[in-house]
Amino acid sequence: MKNGSYCPIGFFDSGYGGLTVMKEVIKKMPEYDYVYLGDNARAPYGSRSFETVYHYTLECVRKLFDMGCELVVLACNTASAKALRTIQQKDLPTLAPNKRVLGVIRPTTEIIGNYTKSNHIGVLATSGTVVSESYPIEIHKFFPDIKVHQHACPMWVPLIENNEYNLEGADYFIKKDIAQLLQQSTEIDAIILGCTHYPLLLEKIKKYLPPNISVLVQGEIVANGLQDYLQRHPEMAAKCSTGGTVHFYTTDSAEQFNKQAGLFFGGEVKGEHLRL
Ligand code: DGL
Repeated sequence: MKNGSYCPIGFFDSGYGGLTVMKEVIKKMPEYDYVYLGDNARAPYGSRSFETVYHYTLECVRKLFDMGCELVVLACNTASAKALRTIQQKDLPTLAPNKRVLGVIRPTTEIIGNYTKSNHIGVLATSGTVVSESYPIEIHKFFPDIKVHQHACPMWVPLIENNEYNLEGADYFIKKDIAQLLQQSTEIDAIILGCTHYPLLLEKIKKYLPPNISVLVQGEIVANGLQDYLQRHPEMAAKCSTGGTVHFYTTDSAEQFNKQAGLFFGGEVKGEHLRL
C-alpha cells in the first residue's frame, strides 16, 4: 500500500450492475484496493428524474469519498448520463477539488467507431439514459457520421434485480425490445449494452440478434479506459493504494445482496450494509 494509507478506487451503481464492470477492472489491475457501493435500497434508477438520480448519486459519491476514495467510477450508465456532469462541474470544485469522478459512457463512445462498418449503431439502455441523449451526444463528438439508434428497455433491470431474467417470461421482453430497436434501421451492425446490468442477459440477447451484429459489453472497455486514465494521470495512480483488497457495501440488506451479487461479480461476495 502506498504511503501506508488506504485509498481504494470506488465503484458505484444503483444496484448490482456495476459489479460487472468492477470485475473486469480487478482482472486488469488486481494490485489496487477497491470498494463497491450499490444503492440497492433505491434501485432501479432507470426511470427516475434527473434531480433524483443526481441527488442519490451525489450522496453515494460523498460516502465513497468519506471511505477514503480519491477516484470514483460511476459504473452505472443512468448515473453517468444524469449526474456525472453536474457532479464534475458543480460539486467537485467545492466538495473535493483534487478528487475525481469518472463515468462509463465516455470510454464506450470513444471506441465505438472500431465496431461499425455501416455507421449505424444501436444502444439498448434504461429510459433515463435514452432520454438524456448522452450516447448520441458523446458519440458525435468522436464520430459525427455515426447514426445512433436508441431503444429503452424499462423491464430489463427489474427482471435482473429480481432474479427473474433466466425464466421464460424474460424472453418476451428481450425479444420485443430487440425487434423494436432493429425496426429503426436494417443497417445496424453494432449494439452497445448501455446498462451495466445487461451483461447478465448476453446469451438471451444474442439469441434474438442476427449473428452479423456485434454486441459491446462495457466491463472490459471501461477497464481499458481506466487503465489508460491512470497511466495518463500518474498523480492519481500514486494516490490509489495497492493492497489488493475488495470491499462491498449495499444500502439494502447485506444478506440479500450477498445472495445475488455473486452472479454479477462472478465469485463469492461478502458485503456489508451501509447507512447513507
Ligand atoms: N446499471 C444501471 C445502468 O447502467 C442500472 C440502472 C437502473 O438502476 O435502472 O444504467
